[in-house]
Amino acid sequence: MRIIHSIPELRAALRGQPAPSFVPTMGNLHAGHLSLIETARRRAGPVVASIFVNRLQFAPHEDFDRYPRTLERDCSALLDSGCDVVFAPSESELYPEAQTYQLHAPSSLADILEGRSRPGFFTGVCTVVLKLFHAVQPGIAVFGKKDYQQWLIVKGMVAQLNLPVEIHGAETVRDADGLALSSRNGYLSEAERREAPRLHRVLQGIARDAGGAGIGRAQLEERAMAELIEHGWQPDYVAIRRRFDLGEPLPGDPLVVLAAARLGGTRLIDNVEIARGP
Ligand code: PAF
Repeated sequence: MRIIHSIPELRAALRGQPAPSFVPTMGNLHAGHLSLIETARRRAGPVVASIFVNRLQFAPHEDFDRYPRTLERDCSALLDSGCDVVFAPSESELYPEAQTYQLHAPSSLADILEGRSRPGFFTGVCTVVLKLFHAVQPGIAVFGKKDYQQWLIVKGMVAQLNLPVEIHGAETVRDADGLALSSRNGYLSEAERREAPRLHRVLQGIARDAGGAGIGRAQLEERAMAELIEHGWQPDYVAIRRRFDLGEPLPGDPLVVLAAARLGGTRLIDNVEIARGP
């Protein structure tokens, strides 16, 4: 496995090979990321993972500075999981000057839910993902569906900009108690870690009851918010939306329920696709 820090070196390393399968990350890798590598390995071509903590997608009050940088440990996990190339650019390699050209996803998708709680977040994500795609030139890129809205936005960007890359959405990997794996789980205290699986349980409760007669969408969302608040969470949203564009659902639309909530100082997100609508 090669560890590469510059774009020219990356291009030289990949020249003459089939288009790579790409897993973009911000490092601090866990089993969820490694399952994305596993998915990428099923395709022909080398597997490239990027590790870059992207300042552009963090608001000034967010955790950019304390976001764990664990390059050595990440590289050894990537080596064990069969990754071929790690692309770990410095900030000055990816942003040699102020990034004044930025890519804005449509407001109807990027300014709701996560985008409402984290203004500018998806502009930062789209801009860096586009730059990483230009550097790596992958045939396929694998994104975790835990970040459901990010996955949809990247798919939309690729479609509308005619980028020659296929976007694959990989299922969320969970601990045995249901907590979705996330780099931010490491911020939780022991007591918070015990409480954290509630977020998934609450979403499963909605998925279970959504098909039942007599309970409406708003009622299900409110019930879930109330349970979280009762147990010390500060929810940003619990929202039942249609899967395709996270818009307000019409009868018969396939649905997903998404949530973001703060437990102590840690903000967690999760989602569950719903079989039947309320
Ligand atoms: O999901 C992430 O880890 C990041 O948002 C990504 C896609 C690597 C862009 O920085």
